[in-house]
Amino acid sequence: MNDNNNLQDDSLILPSLLSADFCRLGEQVKTLESAGCRLLHLDIMDGHFVPNLTFGPPVVRNLAEATNLPFDVHLMVTQPDDWTEAFDFPNTRCITVHAEAGYHIHRSLQAIRNRGKMAGLALNPATEISVLDHLWPSLDLVLIMTVNPGFGGQGFIEACSEKIKQVRKRINEETGGRVVLEIDGGVDSENLCELARAGVQWTVTGNGLFSQSDLGEGFRRFQNLGQRSWEEGRALRGDKN
Ligand code: DX5
Ligand code: ZN
Repeated sequence: MNDNNNLQDDSLILPSLLSADFCRLGEQVKTLESAGCRLLHLDIMDGHFVPNLTFGPPVVRNLAEATNLPFDVHLMVTQPDDWTEAFDFPNTRCITVHAEAGYHIHRSLQAIRNRGKMAGLALNPATEISVLDHLWPSLDLVLIMTVNPGFGGQGFIEACSEKIKQVRKRINEETGGRVVLEIDGGVDSENLCELARAGVQWTVTGNGLFSQSDLGEGFRRFQNLGQRSWEEGRALRGDKN
């Protein structure tokens, strides 16, 4: 498996397959892989936690047979603990649950880590970042939702920019930069640089990327822009690594 250990140290663009052409899924994943993509974002929706349905374990199993790329699994479901095993494929690198979905978030994160996966916690736009206060040792990733979850192609919620800066600061203070900061929703070539400069390390993009006329070329451009801006912002943010 193409599961480089330094995924946690690098600034990455994660294509959200929600915006892919599902009749050409395998082909588009190959294009992304050839363009240098290192991690795919998979949106799992149950029609309860969010008002939409996507795909389930059989589709992800097929995908796992078709690519060596690691998966970043974003569970937008009301009972995340019921689903971690079902999405535990060899390709699965990270599983993220929502802070708003579980009564026992700490237990959910432990269950994910016990499977040898990175444990992520997602926060909806209205959720306070204080939910992170007692969870730092149990976290490998914080996902800040920059749209209300459920659909691709929505506009970035500007009020989330300040939240991103606050979470970056807290990650640096509490974990020395160990925890990955990821954002999801409404990212395009216009706002990508500013967000990466502010300290977003993993940037999910669906519509912004898949609407490019040349997917491979579009991916390379996004990845280069994001990486350059992430590096530029390092000194300003006071990152240790
Ligand atoms: C939204 C999903 C996102 C979505 C992002 O609920 O979690 O991953 O695919 O899509 P864009 O980039 O189009 O907002
Ligand atoms: Zn997502």
